[in-house]
Amino acid sequence: MMRAQVNGQDLVVWRASNGDISAWDNRCPHRGMALSHGFVRGNDLACLYHGWHYGGTGVCRYIPAHPELDPPKTIKATVFSVAIADGVIWVNTQGAAEPAPVPMASQPLRSFHVVSHSESLARACRTVAFEGAFPEQLEQGLYQLGARQVFLLENPLDQGRLQITALADADATPEGCAALSRWCEAVRRSAQEEKVAA
Ligand code: FES
Repeated sequence: MMRAQVNGQDLVVWRASNGDISAWDNRCPHRGMALSHGFVRGNDLACLYHGWHYGGTGVCRYIPAHPELDPPKTIKATVFSVAIADGVIWVNTQGAAEPAPVPMASQPLRSFHVVSHSESLARACRTVAFEGAFPEQLEQGLYQLGARQVFLLENPLDQGRLQITALADADATPEGCAALSRWCEAVRRSAQEEKVAA
């Protein structure tokens, strides 16, 4: 599981043993503990505080202090719609989730957080060299690095942070992905240093 944020909504995103992926409000319906501190138990998410178990639909299934009790179905986590495409989990807190278009055939590369602005990040992408040459920005978020391409998805978080999900072109080899991943790290450092210097 991991903690995430979409449009200011704090989320717990987790994968059950059966492979199902869920995105919920990151608050336990019992006393509000962050569910992202809890544990995946088979196909349930268990809260760290009192151990209540919630199934994939968000409904409470088990209360350890009352093991004989069939919990009321009204005890339920707030569940959001998710869609999965090319290794990226999309969440919509207001309706049905749909993957946004990605302008190339892609594979997941890495994700990272950076304390920076979009403009600083784009500048870093154009000025941090990859294998001795400066990348070319083809369109927003899409960069040509020699024979390779990288697409950066930006998700604004709180406290001036951006969550970046980087996709590589589908043809990139593991070695190519490793090189692109190192470039992403150099971009992250450069964008963050610019923010600190400002
Ligand atoms: S706060 Fe989560 S089980 Fe009590």
